[in-house]
Amino acid sequence: MNNKEVNAILNKYKRDQSSIIAILQDIQEGERYLPRDVLEYVAQKLDISLSKIYYLSTFYQAFSLEPRGKHIINVCVGTACHVRGAAKLVDRLEGDLKISAGGTTADRTFSLESVNCLGACALGPVVVVDGEYFGQMGPEKIDDLLQKYQKKSRKKVKVSAKSTRTRQSKKVSAVKGTKKVKKGTKKRGR
Ligand code: FES
Repeated sequence: MNNKEVNAILNKYKRDQSSIIAILQDIQEGERYLPRDVLEYVAQKLDISLSKIYYLSTFYQAFSLEPRGKHIINVCVGTACHVRGAAKLVDRLEGDLKISAGGTTADRTFSLESVNCLGACALGPVVVVDGEYFGQMGPEKIDDLLQKYQKKSRKKVKVSAKSTRTRQSKKVSAVKGTKKVKKGTKKRGR
């Protein structure tokens, strides 16, 4: 994100210090994380201390100071999911993606996170990708799940390469054999 783009975000919020959370959210949305040089620029332009911005960046789980993948995979390891084999899902994903939970693949396609209770215990074990819930998951369904989101990423690259403004359909089909639940992502508080 260059200075011009950051300035556009700052202007959107009238360079108001009290809008710092919204400003950080917009930067996070654009970059998928909060780069240090951008935070320094924002601190300078809004006359806010860098330490305060870092405090906010680490306080809210929605923010990340490390680059994140295009697709965020959350595996629930809460009690209800744990007793139904959530650990096997984490193992399988870590093996397939060649990262540990908390990490991001080298190509920045996926980030993998383990979380405590996603609020759909009856459907456990539960995996949520980009806010889309998949219940009753098993290791044998992981291939289909990853392929589905890999295809979505490839499609997006093709679309942007053509420089079209065509919006991709948000409608996606559920992974074979899983229960798809329409639900907003529940974030853990700290
Ligand atoms: S314990 Fe997994 S959704 Fe509640």
